[in-house]
Amino acid sequence: MVDGAWRKVAKAAGLLDSSGVPAPTIFARMSELAARTGAINLGQGFPDSDGPQVVLEAAVAAIRGGVNQYPPGRGIAPLRQAIAEHQRHWYGLDVDPDTEVLVTAGATEALTASIIALTEPGDEVVVLEPIYDSYSAAIEMAGAVRRTVTLDWPEYRLKADKLAAAVTDRTRLILLNTPHNPTGRVLDRAELEAVAAVARERDLIVVADEVYEHLTFTVGEQHRHVPIATLPGMAGRTVTISSAGKTFSVTGWKIGWLHARPDIVDAITAVKQFLTYVNGSPFQPAVAQGLALPDDEILAIGADLGRRSTLLTEGLAAAGFGVRPSDGTYFVIADAAPLGYTDGAALCDDLPRLAGVVAVPVQAFAKDPSQPSSLVRFACCKRPEVIEEAAGRLARMRP
Ligand SMILES: Cc1ncc(COP(=O)(O)O)c(C=O)c1O
Repeated sequence: MVDGAWRKVAKAAGLLDSSGVPAPTIFARMSELAARTGAINLGQGFPDSDGPQVVLEAAVAAIRGGVNQYPPGRGIAPLRQAIAEHQRHWYGLDVDPDTEVLVTAGATEALTASIIALTEPGDEVVVLEPIYDSYSAAIEMAGAVRRTVTLDWPEYRLKADKLAAAVTDRTRLILLNTPHNPTGRVLDRAELEAVAAVARERDLIVVADEVYEHLTFTVGEQHRHVPIATLPGMAGRTVTISSAGKTFSVTGWKIGWLHARPDIVDAITAVKQFLTYVNGSPFQPAVAQGLALPDDEILAIGADLGRRSTLLTEGLAAAGFGVRPSDGTYFVIADAAPLGYTDGAALCDDLPRLAGVVAVPVQAFAKDPSQPSSLVRFACCKRPEVIEEAAGRLARMRP
């Protein structure tokens, strides 16, 4: 293999095999396995049906209307205004669309550009484990150092003492993800307050990945997403990140955004403009329309996903898994130990043959040996009949 920094990046993301060859991500590998075997793909998190028709039509109209050249570097003004208005409407946040918003190539670019922009080599970034796969690679690209705080199965609560212990004099960022992939947890106010307290006390910036902000299964106020930027003293030290891909079921459009203090946005823009410069011009007006959809239509997106999540949870429990019901996100984590499987990775390799279903082992997101190795992540962002079929197949599974 050719020499270069790729090796460190692939290693940080756990993608180097023993012979030093870079492997595709587990999600790509499992999607490929599903395509090859015809198994139902509950591995990679992408919906199997389209989002709101008006949003799709707006993109078609934009392409037909000639919106096909480079948009402005920070994103088109109507989208930046829609993002600012969305944050005011849903969370009471006061965001300036001209100086405090940046449109990015998905949340992935927002995360990577933020980490590169806001750390120096050797600086430390605190992350929650299990961890979404792009974080470790981005931290490595920046030459920064990852410090993990484990969320323990099955409660997956963030413990304030563990968080405080992970912060050192070299810490620059806390990379927060709520609603959390893969655990399906929506962090509650007490957990967010613990993060905010450490950030204020140690003068840290919080990079908050909130891509599943509308995909929560609220019961009254329970499991309602609270952006950490709304906590006292946090608006000026938070980079809030989200993505149209999740809310509007358009993961392939790769329209994300962030908002933060003007000097922080300037710094991230300096990096972002040399990663992609800009992207997705015809999708930007469509996403602006989506963000302005009536409340009931936005709330229906989370409620609908919640029904699918419940369907999957019940199906997995009926099949004999130990299941932790999710508070939000595309995902449900299940323990295969009650079925006699102690190695989630081995089970996921065998699942297409055993049951005609594809899932992802939680080991792909976590290295802490104190956590059970028998956990498997299933995606619920599929049509109900697909979830029912997958659950039926899992119930009939025999070793
Ligand atoms: C927690 C989390 N952050 C970021 C992303 C990436 O979002 P995007 O597709 O907008 O880059 C995902 C996608 O799965 C995710 O689960």
